[in-house]
Amino acid sequence: MRHALFLMRRITVIGVGYVGLVTGACFADLGNRVICLDVIPEKIEKLKRGEMPIYEPGLEEMVQRNYAAGRLSFTIDYAEAIPNAEYIFVAVGTPSGVDGEADLKYIRNAVENIAAHLDSYAIIVNRSTVPVGTGDSTAQTLIERGKKQGIDFQVVSNPEFTREGSAMYDFLNPDRVVLGSVDPDAAEAVADLYRVFTKNILITDLRTAEMIKYASNAFLAMKISFINEIASICEKLGADVKMVATGMGQDQRIGAAFLHAGLGFGGSCFPKDVKALMYMAEVNGLHPQLLRAVMDINRDQRRRMILHLRDLLGTLRGKTIGLLGLAFKPNTDDIREAAAIDLAHMLANEGANLRAYDPVAMDNAQRLLDGVRFCNDAYEVAAGADAVILVTEWNEFKQLDMPRLFESMRRKIFLDGRNVYEPSEMRAHGFEYRGIGRPLNGGTVEHARHAEEAVLARAG
Ligand code: UGA
Repeated sequence: MRHALFLMRRITVIGVGYVGLVTGACFADLGNRVICLDVIPEKIEKLKRGEMPIYEPGLEEMVQRNYAAGRLSFTIDYAEAIPNAEYIFVAVGTPSGVDGEADLKYIRNAVENIAAHLDSYAIIVNRSTVPVGTGDSTAQTLIERGKKQGIDFQVVSNPEFTREGSAMYDFLNPDRVVLGSVDPDAAEAVADLYRVFTKNILITDLRTAEMIKYASNAFLAMKISFINEIASICEKLGADVKMVATGMGQDQRIGAAFLHAGLGFGGSCFPKDVKALMYMAEVNGLHPQLLRAVMDINRDQRRRMILHLRDLLGTLRGKTIGLLGLAFKPNTDDIREAAAIDLAHMLANEGANLRAYDPVAMDNAQRLLDGVRFCNDAYEVAAGADAVILVTEWNEFKQLDMPRLFESMRRKIFLDGRNVYEPSEMRAHGFEYRGIGRPLNGGTVEHARHAEEAVLARAG
């Protein structure tokens, strides 16, 4: 019987972004001794004061508690973080470089510093998303360096499947854990860390583990672009994509998840990973047509909103447009590749006046967007506006006081970029409403009658 689960392990995590900080906090919470390292001093200083460099539900409490208990510490110094570590998790960024290939400068830097400071056997666990083959070359570099220094290293690829906004939950309740290594013992040793969360641990070679990550993200992105393409067809044919997705999703072979039509995907993962996979295919002489279509459809989803606005308002010059939500999805302050940022740039190019509000992403957005009036809530965004676009489906946008919103707007145009509301109900309120892939003129008579009754009943 294995007792490894109950041992306190010495773990170092490099990088305190979403992936690294969640990994470090969750392992510390199990009783392990965790040191988190980042090369940006301000981030480490903030963490020592108990402030989070990112917004992630549940993270602050877990970090503060484990820091206070002495299980979790923070440093910028490799000399402090590396010697004595049994496991070194690498969770640094791999941004898109030119042509979409992943830029590995942060990984290289981390590997160099690990090699320079390690003094005894350790397992390097890579959680960053890296091009297939990186694990092999990293392992090679480290093993050669180690031999010269008389130190043994092993490298394990451990792709992460956590979503921002529910990263803690996903880490603690994984569907599966994937571990890739040339050394089965090293993979088993990492598996010991995770067995408390799941028994479903898949051990593969390094390249296969790295590919599982890209293929998973690309597949999810494809599901989103698929339903968005179906949504565009629905709009023309008078069908309702929400019901279509429900009907499709009940087929277990298809599954209901990631079939929400909307403004398309954003964030730091899907766009970057699909592009990186495309790049890997192209440099190997392949034509990744499906992946290309996934990205094209995603870009078109943003453009479709501008077309709706032009259709309803004519020129957008001088018109006031409000954006509800700036984060790339709810429960995060992350605005990377967010639909709202694309829309803001497109609308500014059309000469529109912009207003925006987001419950947590305003600071980040203010750094990126000029000439936008940032408001205190959805109602301030709508007051006097010609159109409002619901961009991020935060809970606080799901039950807006529609009569109040309606009264305060100049033109009563509501574009629902996440299909939060029922078209017939919104039209019963008097709005010129458009969703994504919803019937343009109100659906059936039956629908409209029910909607009107619902609105009247709520009005008392
Ligand atoms: C994604 C994956 O879901 C995680 O498994 C993975 O670990 C992570 O990338 C990563 O590689 O680090 P994340 O980008 O945080 O996670 O967020 P998702 O919840 O997957 O949403 C991504 C985007 O797709 C958001 O903009 C969201 O609005 C959009 N989306 C999602 C849709 O438009 N429709 C859907 O049905 C689902």
